[in-house]
Amino acid sequence: MDLSQLREEYKRAELSRNTLDDDPIKQFEKWFKEAMATVEKDPNAMSLATVNAIGQPSLRTVLLKYFDERGFVFFTNYESRKARDIGQNPRVALLFPWLVLERQVKIEGIAEKVSFAETARYFTTRPRGSQIGAWVSPQSSVIESRNFLLQKFEEMKVRFEKGQVPVPKHWGGYRVVPHVIEFWQGRPNRLHDRFQYSRQADGSWLIERLAP
Ligand SMILES: Cc1cc2nc3c(=O)[nH]c(=O)nc-3n(C[C@H](O)[C@H](O)[C@H](O)COP(=O)(O)O)c2cc1C
Repeated sequence: MDLSQLREEYKRAELSRNTLDDDPIKQFEKWFKEAMATVEKDPNAMSLATVNAIGQPSLRTVLLKYFDERGFVFFTNYESRKARDIGQNPRVALLFPWLVLERQVKIEGIAEKVSFAETARYFTTRPRGSQIGAWVSPQSSVIESRNFLLQKFEEMKVRFEKGQVPVPKHWGGYRVVPHVIEFWQGRPNRLHDRFQYSRQADGSWLIERLAP
C-alpha cells in the first residue's frame, strides 16, 4: 500500500516567541485547554516512552491525570513492563499528539513514584469497577485467557463486597518531572514552528526555536 500521496498542509495556527508564555507549564495549560475544547477523544492521552537497562525503547498510551509546576502525573501498575523499565532507567519521554490542532507537545523528564497518600487520594476518586480492576490484572504478564480476568474480577468483587476497595500495593502514580518541553505547531510548506524549553541549573527555562 502506497501512502506517498497522503498529504496535509498545516495552516491552522502559528506559534511565535512573543505569544509563548515564559513558563512552559502555563503554555501547556493554555494548549491543553484548547485540546479539551477540540480533541474529541481523550485529549489527555499521551504516549509514554521508556528505555530499559539494555537500551530497548518501549512505547504505550497512558492518561495524564493532572499536572502542575512539579510535573505530569499518570497511574499504572507498578509491576508492569513500563514500571520495570522505569525501575532500571527513570528517564522517560511523553508525547501529546493533538493532530486536529496540528500540534504536538513532547516532554523529556525523570519519572518518580508519587507518595502512597497521593495515590490513595486519586484511587478513591475512581469508579468502583476501575478500583476492582486494578486488583485484577497482572499488567504486562502473559495470561491464558480472558476468562482468567473475568474470574478474578468476580473473586475480587466478592472479596471487597463490603466497604471501600483498598489501594493495591502494586498500583500507583508516577510524576514525570520535566527538563525539556517542546511545542510544535504545523505550518505551510513543512516550515513548522518549534519551540523548546530547557530547564537550567538555576531552575529557569531557556526558550529556543528549533528547525522543523
Ligand atoms: C487511550 C488509552 C489510555 C490508556 N491509559 C492507561 C493508563 O492511564 N495507565 C495504564 O497503566 N495503562 C493505560 N493504557 C494501556 C497502556 O497503553 C498499556 O497497554 C498498559 O499500560 C501496559 O503497558 P506496558 O506493558 O508497556 O507496561 C491506556 C491505553 C489507551 C489506548
